[in-house]
Amino acid sequence: MKSEEIIISNSSKNTYDFGVQIAKGIKNGIFGKRRLVCLQGILGSGKTVFAKGFLKEFGITTRILSPTFTISKTYEIQEKTIWHFDLYRMLDASDAMAIGMKEVLSDANAIVLIEWSEKISEFLPSKRIDVRIEVIGDTSREIVLNVLG
Ligand SMILES: Nc1ncnc2c1ncn2[C@@H]1O[C@H](COP(=O)(O)OP(=O)(O)OP(=O)(O)O)[C@@H](O)[C@H]1O
Ligand SMILES: [Mg+2]
Repeated sequence: MKSEEIIISNSSKNTYDFGVQIAKGIKNGIFGKRRLVCLQGILGSGKTVFAKGFLKEFGITTRILSPTFTISKTYEIQEKTIWHFDLYRMLDASDAMAIGMKEVLSDANAIVLIEWSEKISEFLPSKRIDVRIEVIGDTSREIVLNVLG
């Protein structure tokens, strides 16, 4: 399955809502068995805004930070485990594997969201959902969705 879709977001609300839509898609099986969402985009592009909408749809309402000081945060909800990674500070991919990402990525039930996923591109499973956010203006973004594998 390979399909690319481009969405224009004109506000952080639009990007948040897109996160909600992708989470709904996972819940409803629109993306098959894919449970991994990889977020790419420069600093301040809106990855964490997307993550907030996504996590909200899974019932997570605690404050979501762009986890600059932590590499990952786990949520247990409705018997599911949801991981939110931010690899910005990770120096190289082997560090990510060392903290157990391999196990997380191979857990078919875990829902995983990774900011700065390009840092571990060689370890990413082929079945995944890629969301690339391009800054096109102060409040406008081009969001490229790729359902891969
Ligand atoms: N269309 C838009 N979509 C998303 N965010 C937007 C948009 N327009 C403006 N913004 C603003 O851009 C910022 C995005 O911040 P956010 O923390 O989500 O970025 P990030 O990609 O996670 O950055 P980092 O790599 O530092 O974690 C917010 O301040 C948000 O309000
Ligand atoms: Mg962020």
